[in-house]
Amino acid sequence: MVQRVAVVGGSGRLGARVIRALAARGASTVPLSRRSGFDLTRTDPDLLARDLAGCDAVIDCSDAADRRPATFEASAAALAMAAGRAGVRQLVAVSIVGIDRPGLRRMGYYQGKLAQERALAAAAMPVAIVRSTQWFGFADQASAGVDLGRFGRLNLAPAMRMRPVSVDAVAERLARAALDGLHQGRIELAGPEPMRLAELVRRVWRARGVRARVAQLPIPGIPGFADGSLLPGTRAEIDPTTVEAWVVAEGLSQSAG
Ligand SMILES: NC(=O)c1ccc[n+]([C@@H]2O[C@H](COP(=O)([O-])OP(=O)(O)OC[C@H]3O[C@@H](n4cnc5c(N)ncnc54)[C@H](OP(=O)(O)O)[C@@H]3O)[C@@H](O)[C@H]2O)c1
Repeated sequence: MVQRVAVVGGSGRLGARVIRALAARGASTVPLSRRSGFDLTRTDPDLLARDLAGCDAVIDCSDAADRRPATFEASAAALAMAAGRAGVRQLVAVSIVGIDRPGLRRMGYYQGKLAQERALAAAAMPVAIVRSTQWFGFADQASAGVDLGRFGRLNLAPAMRMRPVSVDAVAERLARAALDGLHQGRIELAGPEPMRLAELVRRVWRARGVRARVAQLPIPGIPGFADGSLLPGTRAEIDPTTVEAWVVAEGLSQSAG
């Protein structure tokens, strides 16, 4: 039987890949986001439920545009209620490894993700939360720099310890959680190697054929960035894709042109 899965945030970085992963497994997909008229901040569950009607599962890959904890919480509560009203059997959401560790308590965005997890957990159906580490693309999201011509690049990056992962592996895991039976609870997903963000940035640029030097900036007040709070626990699932393999797969390497 073909399963029908709604992907909230289906137009985003992760959501678009989740749609691809679901389609590759033969599922029919319903991408939803504000641009399709599905706005979680309207928080009217009856309105949202209409778009979820007929869906077996919902995968939440959305982000709160204002990044405020209250927005995450209200949006997730509305989604959980709407999924219940629409008769959805499985809810799946993406979250972030380490967000409940003490060293990250002052990171407002992570408090929002925690509030989102808690609000989704109140749903009437099984809820699977996939906590991912930072994606390889974080190298560009969190680090900026200047091109020094024949001297390569100079980048700045927050001092962070992490174990980055391929976004496609996250998409694949979310699709699996939605399609393969009913899942309740939390899993962690990480990439093959722990490293500092500075190393990730260097390796991404090297794989692109550019030598980059990276200066690390300490983040005062949030010790969890540097103290290993973002690293997964011993029971995490590990995807083997390396940084360099990811750069090639994305068509970003020098040889890919
Ligand atoms: N980047 C990382 O390393 C990382 C690691 C672990 C987890 N995550 C999590 O992954 C999730 C997705 O990240 P991403 O980078 O793919 O985000 P993104 O590219 O910014 O996409 C966000 C999606 O959410 C939709 N959206 C925003 N506000 C909405 C609303 N009020 N109602 C419905 N849809 C809404 C957006 O579409 P519209 O603009 O059309 O609404 C878009 O499709 C986030 O929750 C993030 O915390 C990220």
